[in-house]
Amino acid sequence: MDNRPIGIFDSGVGGLTAVRRLILDAPNESFVYFGDNLRAPYGDRTPEDIRFLSRRNARFLRSRGVKALIIACNTSTANAMAELSGDNADIPAVGTVAPTAAEAVRVTASGRIAVIATTATIRSGLYERTIRALAPDAAVTSVSCPKLVPLIESGHIDRGDPALTAALREYLAPVAAAGADTVVLACTHYPLISDAVLDVLGRPAALVDSGAACVGEVLARLAERDGLAAPGAARSERFCCSGSADGFTAVARAFLGRDIAALTERVDVEGV
Ligand code: DGL
Repeated sequence: MDNRPIGIFDSGVGGLTAVRRLILDAPNESFVYFGDNLRAPYGDRTPEDIRFLSRRNARFLRSRGVKALIIACNTSTANAMAELSGDNADIPAVGTVAPTAAEAVRVTASGRIAVIATTATIRSGLYERTIRALAPDAAVTSVSCPKLVPLIESGHIDRGDPALTAALREYLAPVAAAGADTVVLACTHYPLISDAVLDVLGRPAALVDSGAACVGEVLARLAERDGLAAPGAARSERFCCSGSADGFTAVARAFLGRDIAALTERVDVEGV
């Protein structure tokens, strides 16, 4: 048994989608969350930049004594997973892409799968390669959605929000045209706008939540090494962000359904 916290990072609020699943599935586990909202979005950055920031985020969480890492950012997973695994080979370090692609292949009935994500995730091609390795006949439609993370970080998450609706109309048109029955929300921010996605899509589709998909894998890896928290252990939750804590806690309140302001600190990770 290991009562140390699990570390989770994202470029901003998106990784809260992993936090929500962790709280539901493993209510005993402590965690430290880091959202690099000062530097979001990551999706418009170069692979080198994304690798630099992702490795630094992991070092910050390790300085807080975490026993495992959840890379709750598809952009980091798609561009920096090899480095993150290498740097953190002594603990479980789990990204989003493999478990999310497996879930998409499991739920699709037609084999027509859409992947919506940041520009840097789509550009990496990792989702298409991973899905095709699992299901060679799958028809994959990939769409870059660069406006979504800035909208979500600034609180545009409600169904019917005019700016969000306009952006989704643009991005989901090729998804509807392809007749996808499964839409991979391949950016952890997007489950925050699931209702708006389904409204604008205007047809039934299974949405695959990449924030939630990686939680099961980290818990399984911890269980293999007897690393889960002891039942009844004292539990802690910490939220850290590099930019505005107000914006961060406002979105968190809407998504987690509670106020985390007292658990949230603004941190300086320069030079970590
Ligand atoms: N949540 C991140 C992801 O899953 C968003 C990256 C960004 O900031 O553009 O890709």
